[in-house]
Amino acid sequence: MTGSTDFAEAIRSQCAARAADAVLLGKARGDAEMARAVRDACSAISQRMLGTRAEILEACRNASIMAEAVTGPEDTGELQYHTTSIRLAPGALATMLGVAGDFGFRPPLALGPGQIEAIARYVPNLTLVRADDATSRIVLRIEGQRSSLPSVLRPRLVDIAMTDAGPGRSARYPLFRLRRIVGERLSGRRSPSSDSDFLGTPDSLVAPLLDWLAPGPDDVLFDLGCGDGRIVVTAAERYGCRCVGVEANPDLVAAARARVAQAGPDIADRVEISEGFIEEADLSRATIIFLFLPSYLVARFFEKVRGGSMSGIRILAHEQTGLHGLPPPSETRPIIGAEGITIAHLWRV
Ligand SMILES: C[S@@+](CC[C@H](N)C(=O)[O-])C[C@H]1O[C@@H](n2cnc3c(N)ncnc32)[C@H](O)[C@@H]1O
Repeated sequence: MTGSTDFAEAIRSQCAARAADAVLLGKARGDAEMARAVRDACSAISQRMLGTRAEILEACRNASIMAEAVTGPEDTGELQYHTTSIRLAPGALATMLGVAGDFGFRPPLALGPGQIEAIARYVPNLTLVRADDATSRIVLRIEGQRSSLPSVLRPRLVDIAMTDAGPGRSARYPLFRLRRIVGERLSGRRSPSSDSDFLGTPDSLVAPLLDWLAPGPDDVLFDLGCGDGRIVVTAAERYGCRCVGVEANPDLVAAARARVAQAGPDIADRVEISEGFIEEADLSRATIIFLFLPSYLVARFFEKVRGGSMSGIRILAHEQTGLHGLPPPSETRPIIGAEGITIAHLWRV
């Protein structure tokens, strides 16, 4: 046996469950407590997603549409995040969205019938996010699309979601794509483009991540891209700190504000949800910054930090798949919850 198992590396390589098994079976050295936590979390995540997939496939059969499971790590109990995939033909998409919607799974952006047609024509993978927990997703693999467009012109979900051309007009979307790309080049701002941009931090990871930060009552914690507000509300409740959530998606701003209101007047006094873009946020009051964002946005945020406009703050970013182009963190830790796994990085700036 050689060195001790590096669970952060194993998580990043999507082989955490196997690494944990090796430690538990005595085939590799490593932290047994962490190995058990990893093993339990992967099993729990896999079980949940297998159950969801089976229920949805059964409902597809009842709705007379052809859909089949894409086997993945959930089948061997090795899944690290709440996702499962289902394969279907383009013509089944509209019915499938209705079926999945009955289980709470929806596209991350509201879509009209013409937009659904365009997705069936151009977008090979559509991720549906579970609206009531924002941490589970189903990837619909739409197979059998025929399009001769070069990749650069092929509309992505974001191009289709931004404009509703109406039914029968999907041929217009390559132009909308060009317009968006040019607009973003000119403004220097990028629209959320990956479906997973909208996922929330799994519930069982929220407290352990915040516990590592342990904000004091004088801290002001900013969650940049705060989603449904779970981080800011939990931080205010658990630590009594002040919090600001910044969010660009108006639906999520409304969800975050509802969560704050539901938490009661004490929390509402301490938590502010601001609608807007991270790139334009005033961070002068921040003492802690929380980031769960796609890599390109984290990198853009760090350009601001490098510019020297911030000091004396702590920044926490978490991810499973690696962040690129960032300064080395002060510390990195795997964080394991009952049904969640991530890698957290802390910078003391
Ligand atoms: C991965 S989610 C994280 C949500 C929340 N921080 C959490 O941990 O549960 C990222 C969030 O950032 C938002 N977002 C993405 N790009 C943004 C931008 N440029 N400005 C503001 N919000 C953005 C998305 O709408 C999404 O809600």
